[in-house]
Amino acid sequence: MASLDAVKKTIGQLRVEINHHNYRYYVLDSPKISDTEYDRLIRKLKRLEDQYPQFLTPDSPTQRIGAAPVEAFGVIEHLWPLLSLGNVFSKEELLAWYTRTTKLLGGAQFNFVGEHKIDGLAVALTYVNGQLATGATRGDGLHGEDITQNLRTIRSIPFSISGEVPPRFEVRGEVFLPRAGFTKLNQERAAEGQPLFANPRNAAAGSIRQLDPRITARRPLDIYIYMLGYAENKTTPETHWETMEYLKSLGFKVNPNNRRLTGIEQVVEYYRTWEKERESLRYEADGIVVKVNQLNLQKRLGDIGREPRWAIAYKFPAVQGTTRLLKIGISVGRTGTFNPYAVLEPVSVGGVTIKQATLHNEDDIRRKDIRIGDTVIVQRAGEVIPEVIGPVKSQRRGGEREFSLLEEVFNKEKGQPVCPVCGDEVVKPEGEVMYYCANTACPTQAQQRIEHFVSRRAMDIRGIGENLSALLHEKGLVRDAADLYYLKDKQEQLLGLEKMAKKSVTNILNAIEQSKDRPLSRVIFALGIRHIGEETAETLAREFHSLDELAETSREQLISILTIGPKIADSITAFFRQAENRDIIERLRKAKVRLAEKAAKAKVRTLSGVEFVLTGTLNTFPRQEAEAKIKALGGTTGKNVTQKTTYLVVGVDPGSKLTKAQHMGTKILNETELLILLGNKR
Ligand code: IVH
Repeated sequence: MASLDAVKKTIGQLRVEINHHNYRYYVLDSPKISDTEYDRLIRKLKRLEDQYPQFLTPDSPTQRIGAAPVEAFGVIEHLWPLLSLGNVFSKEELLAWYTRTTKLLGGAQFNFVGEHKIDGLAVALTYVNGQLATGATRGDGLHGEDITQNLRTIRSIPFSISGEVPPRFEVRGEVFLPRAGFTKLNQERAAEGQPLFANPRNAAAGSIRQLDPRITARRPLDIYIYMLGYAENKTTPETHWETMEYLKSLGFKVNPNNRRLTGIEQVVEYYRTWEKERESLRYEADGIVVKVNQLNLQKRLGDIGREPRWAIAYKFPAVQGTTRLLKIGISVGRTGTFNPYAVLEPVSVGGVTIKQATLHNEDDIRRKDIRIGDTVIVQRAGEVIPEVIGPVKSQRRGGEREFSLLEEVFNKEKGQPVCPVCGDEVVKPEGEVMYYCANTACPTQAQQRIEHFVSRRAMDIRGIGENLSALLHEKGLVRDAADLYYLKDKQEQLLGLEKMAKKSVTNILNAIEQSKDRPLSRVIFALGIRHIGEETAETLAREFHSLDELAETSREQLISILTIGPKIADSITAFFRQAENRDIIERLRKAKVRLAEKAAKAKVRTLSGVEFVLTGTLNTFPRQEAEAKIKALGGTTGKNVTQKTTYLVVGVDPGSKLTKAQHMGTKILNETELLILLGNKR
């Protein structure tokens, strides 16, 4: 057996290595190693930490998965109020701000920093002794919500800062959901029949204010730090720009699009550039922020009310336009949903011609009172698909017509509404807003199910995209997902397809072969069961370990799982009742697609061998409770700091134990860190 010292050393080295790669990937956006290699390092570290829990620390890169849920957020008082910004909407208004600022500064020389105004939400992060201690929302500016556990899941937020740093400091920045992550999240929610987020900002806010940090951990949130709020015992640089450079050097993520600007004309130029280019950004920006660069001048300018006088937001015009709604069409989605979409008189919105836009569902159309023939407002957000915001009622001329989905798909011969694609029956499950095609063999559905099955987040079969899945389905080579695994017997036909060279056939067949070993959660997700998105699929895989076990589970057993409601339970049982689906699963099994977890459930990690000593008052729970939790997980607690002590937990007003621990080099935890250690032990 390796000596404990050697293990500890390896763990330490792995962490340094992983943290470095984390930084390259999440902060610099320039990874040096492949995802697989990175995963291998993480797995290695996790294995060691599982085996030697005494070396598990809250700042380990494995601790990004989210702690246990809380019932409500605590309140954090900001060290310094979080201000908002004044807005200007035109060059004239900007120049007026500039003139005022110049006057107030009485001839002092200054320049600016131009930044993007990111549409996310403001957070304040405090670091104590180089460790991330708390993270809070803006709240009312004076008090925010304690969202530390959620912010800890954002990989571009460093857990610890090495080197010479102020003993206590606070940075502020904007948490946001990149466009790609937003689109993906909404697609997932649509598949699960959950309400969609209106824009990335709402999605980011919804994700960060989750009481269950494990959900936050699955959302690809990111951050840009935009100011140093406070720093104890530090002579801060003289300008905002240098401050940002300093924060960058500490490992914080700062927007690479920030620019130093001289003179207001350069500010206008910066604005114009980004107004044109904003769509190309990986995040949504609703304007630029102009900041006076010299910090002493910022101080001199001060604030009025809640707004600083040294900065201003120059907003971009909304990417909206108005046009006529010519018709409402209906497309059929993968799970058979009827999705109404707007057919528009082509209109250019922010440089892009829009002919179609989404209308979500019938309830939404009714709520917004959108009628066919209306002049409507269309908006292009970060998404690819533009949306209809609402009608311009003042422009109604009387000929507009209300939309009814059932009337639209009504078939006179059959005397009932039918699916516009296959002509089968229409159903609307109770309590849902969507209508569905009852026929699971409906051609567009079948084709989209295959497309979903091979997609990146499902079985990840590279080389088969939208077009090829459509073609394979159309030619009858792949009628359902299971058929993919029998394609190797149909190489001749594959080679006969247009643009299919020998090499691509080999590549595709290899990719199919490789997909046989995907984790169970992926398989469950890939099956395309209505309302089962990635998150639910993961829950199900965790609970059931095999597809057979899941298939045999009763509705009641399913509902007894915390995050599974009747709607999902019904959908799962209905799925496995259907003969076609059972047949697909059997053929997958025959083709040797893995339908169970590889290993038995991981052992519950314990704190055995870990000794805690507590000092000072804890905020979240009484000390006895903390001690009870530690013991429940197999840890021990001691009265005094000794050689045996693994951690000293420091609350408010710590006693002499702290000095002793510092002397002895005992690892010191703050309350948050203790919570993480306890919370992650599920
Ligand atoms: S500076 C006192 N810089 O905009 C200055 N804010 O409307 C305060 N925001 O609450 C903020 N991007 O959440 C600053 N580059 C940026 C920003 C930014 C987005 C947000 C921030 C603030 C809101 C004010």
